[in-house]
Amino acid sequence: MYCVRSVTDDLYWVGANDHRLHLFENIHPIPRGVSYNAYLLLDQKTVLFDTVDWSACRQLLENVGHLLAGRPLDYLLINHMEPDHGASIEEILLRWPEVKVISTEKAFMLMRQFGFHIDGHELITVQEGDTFSFGTHKVTFVAAPMVHWPEAMVTFDLTNGVLFAADAFGSFGALDGKLFADEVNFDRDWIDDARRYLTNIVGKYGPHVQLLLKKASGILDQIKFICPLHGPVWRENLGYFIDKYDKWSRYEPEEQGVLIAYASMYGNTEAAAQALASKLCEKGMTNVWVYDVSNTHVSQLISESFRLSHIVLASVTYNLGIYPVMHNYLQDMKALNLQNRTFALIENGSWAIKSGDLMQKFIENELKNMTVLGDRLTMASSLHDDKVSDLEALADAILESMKQ
Ligand code: FEO
Repeated sequence: MYCVRSVTDDLYWVGANDHRLHLFENIHPIPRGVSYNAYLLLDQKTVLFDTVDWSACRQLLENVGHLLAGRPLDYLLINHMEPDHGASIEEILLRWPEVKVISTEKAFMLMRQFGFHIDGHELITVQEGDTFSFGTHKVTFVAAPMVHWPEAMVTFDLTNGVLFAADAFGSFGALDGKLFADEVNFDRDWIDDARRYLTNIVGKYGPHVQLLLKKASGILDQIKFICPLHGPVWRENLGYFIDKYDKWSRYEPEEQGVLIAYASMYGNTEAAAQALASKLCEKGMTNVWVYDVSNTHVSQLISESFRLSHIVLASVTYNLGIYPVMHNYLQDMKALNLQNRTFALIENGSWAIKSGDLMQKFIENELKNMTVLGDRLTMASSLHDDKVSDLEALADAILESMKQ
């Protein structure tokens, strides 16, 4: 059965929702699923903007076939060829062999590299600033390298203000009928998945997102719709989401608040983390979030690290090193380029307390623009009453640093 929705009077969402995939990119959990968005324009010429993951190909074909109703498919425009969007290109070419494919030179190169059989079909290479007319609609192309692969571009419809944004402005989460961001409570139900998507998938490439935002700023008043390749379409309150993207890609926290991530073997480091959380709340800072690194997926920890201004790492010493899961979290912060945060440390160990020094060294040597507060809480096996003043001092130091 086809499943389509109108975006405008002649543009349709023809993508699909995926609740079967557990791990996006085989690494990030997606309990709310994901959507692969593709769009079909019915102008004097018919144009399919991007395709979908192979697992959703049948749905795409039903959707496109239904809307074309016997018309030929004239153009296939590929903004981003990564297989979660490009895997169905070949099938489209098999069904509509006369279709002309529009994309960037690099995208065609990568399609060949992935084994897509595109040669023998008419390929139209475009670059930034080129324009193309499909009848009423005239589009222009804007390069978006590393948002999130090097070949990516976005396409702007100069006629109706639709921005086909590729991976930019995307989100985890299946649409399940609700295509538009204004049809859901985005700030309540979607923002965490949008942040987790952006920070984990494109987080490393903040400067490239900034570059794209800079290009978009010149035509901001002309953008009426943002059509990403994952998640809801934006047609209202665009500034809300653009502002989030701006903050995330500048590595600026969204909120003053404290993330306490603890690595605990027998509950004693956890108890210290909880005691600190209580102290902070008692002193008036209630935007405090406590996570066990052993049972929180690192993509969630990263997302929260992008949201909040302060990060407390509480770790046992393990094999004379940082607890492995905590170490992995730190490695991910480095890989995703997290910057501009204030850290505080809690260390634990029973005969050789090493984790604090090692975490501090990692933060100072491997991460950029980070501050580590000097008031470290050190504990041997468990936290005793004689450390209450240290706990107090740590909470005070965190609160004091928020005033600066
Ligand atoms: Fe959703 Fe970079 O692909």
